[in-house]
Amino acid sequence: ASYETILTETDGAVTIITLNRPKALNALSSVVLEELIKAFAAYQADDSQLCAIITGSGDKAFAAGADIKEMSDKAAADFYLDDFFSRWTSEIVKTTRKPWIAAVNGFALGGGCELAMMADFIIASDNAKFGQPEIKLGVAPGMGGSQRLTRAVGKSKAMEMCLTGRMMGAEEAERSNLVAKVVPHDELMTEAKKTAALIASMPPMAAIANKEMVNSAYEMTLEQGIVQERRLFQILAASEDKKEGMAAFVEKREGKWTGR
Ligand code: HXC
Repeated sequence: ASYETILTETDGAVTIITLNRPKALNALSSVVLEELIKAFAAYQADDSQLCAIITGSGDKAFAAGADIKEMSDKAAADFYLDDFFSRWTSEIVKTTRKPWIAAVNGFALGGGCELAMMADFIIASDNAKFGQPEIKLGVAPGMGGSQRLTRAVGKSKAMEMCLTGRMMGAEEAERSNLVAKVVPHDELMTEAKKTAALIASMPPMAAIANKEMVNSAYEMTLEQGIVQERRLFQILAASEDKKEGMAAFVEKREGKWTGR
């Protein structure tokens, strides 16, 4: 598929989706949203693709937020009646059951920070900058930032970030558990692809189940989450890839996965 605001490519079993409006610091317009919905659906539907990376083009930004120029003329009724921002959750996060990583190469502000936090985890370049500066525009996070940032870094830091609108650098983001790993800027995509390829080499059904379990820690009580984990474990135990994985271990060889 060819898109106007994003680029997609595949590298083996890894899909790379690049936000591509560098002159607007990859701001997330409604066209970007529509195209991301299609790109993520295509990734989810393609059995040959087992991990995805989302990143930003150019050296400066992952995404500097929702498109302010597009939002500036909208009335409250437009946002409310369109349930603006809801499709990020309903059509990207919920429908993408396979793993995806955000490779944050610069500014990840507002909706950009929120999009990065929708990913399963974040790898950041050492010049990445995260923030929820919406308060300075008279609004607030609208794509999950107040919830995901708080769960990631805790109340005190999330509250301070949202109330001051300040940016957090990569080192602080790693220390605060917002990102899984920080790497030198020039090595970001090499590292992201290496990590994605490693995930893509795992038994695919187990990858989906592992993702589902960890996400359940956000949604369920401890007791419910532990039951859910056990049930998924028991389902995986009946898979062909479990048989193969354990046989391969015993025979000291690499497993060959069927994804069943
Ligand atoms: C539209 C944007 C944009 C955005 C930057 N640009 N961010 N366009 N929406 N979110 C555009 C600028 O207008 C400019 O276009 C070009 O990108 C380069 O940006 P500069 O500001 O000139 O770059 P610089 O001086 O280096 O500053 C970088 C920056 C700054 C610190 C990241 O651009 C910035 O503060 N951006 C806005 C960040 C923000 O507030 N994000 C949250 C958005 S609200 P021109 O045409 O002038 O060259 C949100 C959710 C809101 O995400 C929920 C509401 C319901």
